[in-house]
Amino acid sequence: MTTIGFLGAGRMGTALVAALCRTGRTVHVWNRTAEKAQALAAFGARPERTPEAAVAAADIVMVNLLDYVASDALFQRPEVTEALKGRLLVQLTSGSPKTARDTGAWATVKGIDYLDGAIMATPDFIGGVETQILYSGARDRYEKYEAVFAALGGKSAFVGEDFGVASALDGALLAQLWGTLFGTLQATTIARAEGIALDDYAASLKLFRPVIDGAEVDLLSRVRDGRDRGDEATLATIAAHNTAFQHLRHIVAERGLNPAITDAFDSYFAAAIANGHGNDDFAMLASYMVSQ
Ligand SMILES: NC(=O)c1ccc[n+]([C@@H]2O[C@H](COP(=O)([O-])OP(=O)(O)OC[C@H]3O[C@@H](n4cnc5c(N)ncnc54)[C@H](OP(=O)(O)O)[C@@H]3O)[C@@H](O)[C@H]2O)c1
Repeated sequence: MTTIGFLGAGRMGTALVAALCRTGRTVHVWNRTAEKAQALAAFGARPERTPEAAVAAADIVMVNLLDYVASDALFQRPEVTEALKGRLLVQLTSGSPKTARDTGAWATVKGIDYLDGAIMATPDFIGGVETQILYSGARDRYEKYEAVFAALGGKSAFVGEDFGVASALDGALLAQLWGTLFGTLQATTIARAEGIALDDYAASLKLFRPVIDGAEVDLLSRVRDGRDRGDEATLATIAAHNTAFQHLRHIVAERGLNPAITDAFDSYFAAAIANGHGNDDFAMLASYMVSQ
């Protein structure tokens, strides 16, 4: 069975190491704060005193630190670089596509095989059959160790040889997550300001959810196909959206709420309408995301 070196035992690293240990794999783990690595001995992991010791004992090396500044500093320690040579390095730290490409290029120059991963889950989902972790880089390396990746997430997938693709997908999916979470914050703020119980709001949201999901699916396919002109299948024109949206702005103004988000949305509607797109589909706003 593959032996794993693991660098990083924070919240996510701990969940990843525990999942690997549960499958009976040997995991040599190092963490800057040694107590966190030592605590993983309870799952059967082997704590190491230095990162190079964890690397040297392993077939493949996985890394989950706070950011690429921390992981790059670690990789560039001469003793760590030397130990990584000839091994597969799997970067599970979150970063941008550029940082993934830069680290992948550095690894290639140093004779280190590299995969860049993006974890689309919180720690409680690690090891689940439906959990998605995305990997890009060396395809043959991914295929060789697919069983290890499946132990961390049953829906793990190889998404491309460009080192940056996993991080790029991560960015897009997180944009969706934060859009939803900020939407929830805004909705609860309005409900509270208007004296609506949040349980009542939640009950209405449940019934409204299929409408939201349907509009999202429709928008995605329209943007994909470039069907941004208003047509007979348009659910609501930009002008119709904007009329309803202005009511939201009125609530925000009347209740003295923070208008930062509504002002930002308003700028997209205003620009599109000023350019004569009032009768077009909401999908037309996609071009305003790229530039004004
Ligand atoms: N938590 C999530 O839900 C989640 C979901 C998806 C992806 N991720 C990603 O997973 C990574 C870890 O997140 P986390 O939630 O586990 O964070 P965390 O609990 O704060 O853990 C951070 C880890 O990075 C280490 N670290 C920080 N700075 C370091 C440095 N300069 N040198 C060496 N080690 C350093 C910490 O070591 P110490 O223990 O010594 O501080 C710890 O092991 C991040 O890239 C995050 O974006 C997290």
